[in-house]
Amino acid sequence: MYCKGKPKYQLTPKTSGWMHELFNDQAVVKGLVERYGSPINIHHLPSFNQNCENYKQVFESYGLKYRIFYARKANKSKGLVKQAFASSIGVDTASLKELEQSLALGGNAKNLVLTAAIKTTPQIELAIEKGVPIILDNEDECVLTQAVAKRMGKKANVGFRISGFEVDEEKLYSRFGFDVDDVIDFVSSYVGEHKTFDMLAVTGLHFHLDGYSTQQRSVSLIASINIISTLKEKGYPVSFIDIGGGILMNYLEEEKEWLAFNENLKKAVVEQSNNITFNDNGLGFRLEEGKLRGKLNTYPFFNKINKGSFIKEVLDYMDDASGLSVASLLRENDIEIRIEPGRSLLDQVGMTVAKVIHRKKDAKGQWLVGLEMNMSQMMSSSADFLLDPFMLYNSEVEENENVDVFFTGAYCLERDVLLKRKMTLPRLPAIGEYVAFVNTAGYMMHFFETEAHLFELSTNLIFTGSNEKLSFFQFIDDQKIVLE
Ligand SMILES: Cc1ncc(COP(=O)(O)O)c(C=O)c1O
Repeated sequence: MYCKGKPKYQLTPKTSGWMHELFNDQAVVKGLVERYGSPINIHHLPSFNQNCENYKQVFESYGLKYRIFYARKANKSKGLVKQAFASSIGVDTASLKELEQSLALGGNAKNLVLTAAIKTTPQIELAIEKGVPIILDNEDECVLTQAVAKRMGKKANVGFRISGFEVDEEKLYSRFGFDVDDVIDFVSSYVGEHKTFDMLAVTGLHFHLDGYSTQQRSVSLIASINIISTLKEKGYPVSFIDIGGGILMNYLEEEKEWLAFNENLKKAVVEQSNNITFNDNGLGFRLEEGKLRGKLNTYPFFNKINKGSFIKEVLDYMDDASGLSVASLLRENDIEIRIEPGRSLLDQVGMTVAKVIHRKKDAKGQWLVGLEMNMSQMMSSSADFLLDPFMLYNSEVEENENVDVFFTGAYCLERDVLLKRKMTLPRLPAIGEYVAFVNTAGYMMHFFETEAHLFELSTNLIFTGSNEKLSFFQFIDDQKIVLE
């Protein structure tokens, strides 16, 4: 049997049928973990395809020209890159290897983009050779791209990344991109025939905003549309605006659980009675001179507006100056909108399963359940991953013992506690049983994974999810996917 962990303040994750199907077939789970080692990461391709379709439908409902590029930095599996192409979307690449692999998996000039934060000569050579658009961040990149293009005798297809948009009378800071106030001058002075950068063919603008504001994205889009109008008047055939990623997704079933968790965590920090988390971790909140300071330093796990409705909110925003919506402005100006979602295309796509190795009581009398897994194999860039996990028991739980546990990992660090929240389970897990962490595909599995202690990297399995009865053979080791 299986059940969700039920801590005092539950955070019930959204789940999909394929996850429950697997929980119900522990022979398959056991077979996979025994074959590939703990932990395993499972990726469900139909869920990825569904997310692609949802984004497509939104843009189509507005009659917009659009392109979707999956930001593959969020997950390194090759199977998802292949699926992106099979689902007729593109891939955003952020390194030489990501670009090389994506080309070998079916990528080309039409369905790839290079947005690497640091661009080296080999990346630029490969992108120019294959005609892949390069998103330029600074003048040095222009100099390098111009030199490489000249040497190769082939123009580079480029977009200019911009930042510093003014929203509500404040300039949004970013370390990336050209300043929005300088880009027209820069392009018109230096780019084009008989100018310094005559090997750069500018085809678009790009931005990626920190945070998750739809309003900031709309205002930045409007500013970008105006820049494109000016550049077009000056003779540059600029045709797309890429608004990057950062499109919210929703991890949780219920808003009320999210609100209650937030309130009770704050209260526990103030009252210094925090027994919700390991070692009273405030997850960003702290008490200073009797006052609550800080803020919850995690992803905002509950979001009413997410994925398609997030994009709709961006597109429906009304521009005061023209009285038109962002979508109408894009259509009127014949501009293609592009997005680069990473996390949100991976919603419901992945899960991480690890094996219980030991149970012990620490000096405080708390149960620690040691898993064959380490903190880098499910690591958030923020304070914690706030979803209740699932416990896969290999026998019926007869009496509800309600035991509180923390799941601990294999690093030598005191802080290798896989979830900071205390979990309540109906009985103490037995050695060899499994714990499943759901919806981990976006950034959680790979972004920070290391080989410290010479631990093997976890195996990534691609699950095709056919309608037949579950079998071991429906799970393909991502390493076995061949590059052409
Ligand atoms: C340029 C760019 N595009 C796309 C993304 C993907 O963002 P997300 O995974 O939040 O959708 C990122 C993330 O950092 C980015 O920097």
